[in-house]
Amino acid sequence: MKNIYSNIVEVNKNNIQKAINYLKRNELIGVPTETVYGLAGNAYNRISVKKIYSLKKRPVFNPLIIHYYKLKDLENDVKVNEDFKKLYSKLCPGPITFVLNKRKKTEVNNLALTNLNTIAVRFPQNSVIRKILKSINFPLAIPSANMSSGISPVEARDVVKEFGNKIKIVVNGGHSIIGIESTVIDLTGRIKILRPGAISVKKIEKILGKKIYANKNIKKLKSPGMIKKHYSPGIPVLINQTKYDNKSAYIYLGKKYRNNKNFFSLSSNSNLDEAASKLYKTFREIKKRGFKKIQIAKIPSKGPGIAINDRIKKAAN
Ligand code: TXA
Ligand code: MG
Repeated sequence: MKNIYSNIVEVNKNNIQKAINYLKRNELIGVPTETVYGLAGNAYNRISVKKIYSLKKRPVFNPLIIHYYKLKDLENDVKVNEDFKKLYSKLCPGPITFVLNKRKKTEVNNLALTNLNTIAVRFPQNSVIRKILKSINFPLAIPSANMSSGISPVEARDVVKEFGNKIKIVVNGGHSIIGIESTVIDLTGRIKILRPGAISVKKIEKILGKKIYANKNIKKLKSPGMIKKHYSPGIPVLINQTKYDNKSAYIYLGKKYRNNKNFFSLSSNSNLDEAASKLYKTFREIKKRGFKKIQIAKIPSKGPGIAINDRIKKAAN
């Protein structure tokens, strides 16, 4: 019998070449990145981009992040500015995505951009995806490798659970180190954080030497990733919980309930980076164990806690 993990391949020269060949033939593959696993396809090719939307059942108005190897690779696609250059030199490659104005002559397929005149660009840090990007002469459109509105995968087998053998291969890069999606920052006008992530606003403000205004003031929904229902584990999620209901799975920080199998700690020493990296994995584990509901204790809103709260709020929607 064919085992369901048969399309997961280990990292070696042969398999990286295989992955590259699939991409050149406009097929989709599963790839590791430092944030979450992605579903990658040729961003310059309409067929590849179309496959991404249909496989994920992603609304066609939700644009994709375009992934590059190095700065020079995007010069035909977007207009760079001083703030971008500063952030690029300090943070890239890394878990941050920049929204920039697109160039008319860009070859990025318009379906991936949903007719916007901006492009979200990212330079991932993970060595496997970097090897792949280095060896091809087109950028990759890479959304998280999950069905639309679900939670992002952080391991190769999560990707197989989402798509089975509908994708040719998933390159196994181990557990995603960060475990939560990249920070998305809009640099096309007054700077805005469209999606909080591993790279904090404080860090960005320090590099730019100026203040970034809070998201609350934005009236228009600019990043469709901000649609309220998102990151859903598929069962009800309740946040800011103080009292255990005696039947749900209970997510918290610390080690107080470590002997109770209904309690799931995101970090025994309440480290928020660790907590972010364990969030999606914990959601998946809870579902696997058959719980019908998730309660989550209050998570402090500082550093990576801001990104955690953003995701669990949407999961609770
Ligand atoms: O960490 C990540 O960014 C992962 C890994 C695989 O790189 N990718 C990821 O992609 O999270 P996705 O498609 O799951 O989320 C992309 C987010 C969405 O919220 C989308 O609306 C937003 O980026 N986005 C893409 N292009 C945009 C644009 N031009 N303007 C504003 N938001 C944009
Ligand atoms: Mg996603």
